[in-house]
Amino acid sequence: MTYSLDVDCLTSIRHFEGRGSYFGSSEIMAVSDMNQTIHLRVNGAGHQLEVPARRLLVDCLRYDLGLTGTKEGCSVGVCGACTVLIDGQMAASCITLAVAVDGAEITTIEGLAQDGRLHPVQQAFIDYGGFQCGICTPGQVMAAKALLDINPHPSEAEVREWMMGNLCRCTGYYKILESVVNALGSKPEATPGGSSLDSGESRNDGVG
Ligand code: FES
Ligand code: FES
Repeated sequence: MTYSLDVDCLTSIRHFEGRGSYFGSSEIMAVSDMNQTIHLRVNGAGHQLEVPARRLLVDCLRYDLGLTGTKEGCSVGVCGACTVLIDGQMAASCITLAVAVDGAEITTIEGLAQDGRLHPVQQAFIDYGGFQCGICTPGQVMAAKALLDINPHPSEAEVREWMMGNLCRCTGYYKILESVVNALGSKPEATPGGSSLDSGESRNDGVG
């Protein structure tokens, strides 16, 4: 077997180690240029794909499936722009190998609207001006949706802490926070200045 890890791939692996990754050290050894057949269910639609073993999920979504709603910012698991849900769990698709999620259910920003109606988080970002250039917005929305799924009524402190892994270069975070808080129907602060998650849940998407 030929091992041909490039710099980007090594960077991705470095960021995954010890952070709730979708592949471990034994899988890393199997990374190569060889094509593999994978099956993904993306936004409810099944896909069979032939991808190089080192194909990143963000590239698979954007270039193989044409789902360009998922954005790539930093490419190293820091900014959260590429956030998608993998089997309901938030993940940074820029540091996730497509072959590592073979058989998974992926939800991207394109999968949130139902029957022509935007998801409440999407609508709130429009209503409360939670974006400017929009590059970070799909990731922000996916992260907020993930919070809503596990904690339907987060406090403002919980929202702040949860959304900390999603960076924005242009909006200013108040509008984003306002959008998320209103979309989720957040409850008033129980403890002024408190920041721990009442639900006991914390992000595990490798972003940070
Ligand atoms: S592009 Fe994936 S975390 Fe920044
Ligand atoms: S709206 Fe431009 S980076 Fe967030």
